[in-house]
Amino acid sequence: MSNEEFFAEVLSVDESRIVVAYDGPVHGEVTLEAISGDGSELLRSGECVGIGRFELANCSPDSDYALHLTAPGAERRLVCRTLPRPATPELRRFLLLADPHVSFKTENRKGRFFAESALLLEEFVHLANQLRPEAVLCVGDLTNAGTNEEYRLCRTILDALALPLLAVPGNHDVLPPGGTELWRKFFGAPEFQRELGRGDRIVGLDTSSGYLSESGAALLRDALDTPGLLIVLSHYLLYPTPDIHRGSNGVIANTAEYAELLEQLACRPHTLLYTGHQNIPVVTAPAGARGIRQWTLPQPCQYPCGHLLARFHAEGVWHTFLPIGSEVLRQWSRTAGDRAAAFYGERQWESVYRRGRCGLLNQVYFF
Ligand SMILES: [Fe+2]
Repeated sequence: MSNEEFFAEVLSVDESRIVVAYDGPVHGEVTLEAISGDGSELLRSGECVGIGRFELANCSPDSDYALHLTAPGAERRLVCRTLPRPATPELRRFLLLADPHVSFKTENRKGRFFAESALLLEEFVHLANQLRPEAVLCVGDLTNAGTNEEYRLCRTILDALALPLLAVPGNHDVLPPGGTELWRKFFGAPEFQRELGRGDRIVGLDTSSGYLSESGAALLRDALDTPGLLIVLSHYLLYPTPDIHRGSNGVIANTAEYAELLEQLACRPHTLLYTGHQNIPVVTAPAGARGIRQWTLPQPCQYPCGHLLARFHAEGVWHTFLPIGSEVLRQWSRTAGDRAAAFYGERQWESVYRRGRCGLLNQVYFF
């Protein structure tokens, strides 16, 4: 196996744990040597099937790690830095879900899981019930075709959540003939605001049409003087980012109409905007931003296949990427996306692009 055939990447990082994925076409032992200021640690694969994950526990916070992976005839070197340890207690945590695209299709498409979409959402519910966040926040495209059957399946799976779900619709959820009405029937109001206590507020925008609505703009205007933290959910991005430029930029089409409001929002401190749709995991500081960061979330059903855990402390928000459970599925999505990019001539499915350039969002947003 050549070095090019042996794939490895850092998946999850927090203040004490690093998860690394690997994938190669040859059976044999894979090893990971992790070197930090504290010394080195060597992990070995047990089953030698060439695909899997290593988990480094008990890491030191705020520390550089050099990771050296070896496989038969190949090696990879990666680096990462653990997150700093929070200085204050955790105040809130949310689990962030984007674009699960629950579908009854039996064929997958361009690296996207349809056949496994419901299974992945069930797994997410199980994860959420274990992690016990304050709520699950979803930025839309729960369904793929917005049909009654998809909505009913989605609702049944999400009814097993032991905690609240706050969700806004995506463009797939409102597909005709009945998507818009079905969203209301199964998930209630497509736009909302909730007081979270301690002066914090969450605003859900319905940008499923690709536009910021007048009512959504009113909610945002009203939220500008929220005394505490402001969390905004939107399917489409409100601000462009240079990291999302293939296929579509995923931004609402009427930014010019609301330029002044979006500028005011960008200057508001303690603001987190979570978006989906393009699902390239990137964090964006809008032009002139003094406060807000826009987090575009990964999705479970397409590479890099995962969710985001957000832990809120007084000094900032700790974000950690949580991959879906199966590395085999994740790697199928990665390689199928690369093959689709070549076959269809659509470079937006290339894994190197879909991974984004923000370390899968494993980072702290300091206030
Ligand atoms: Fe979408």
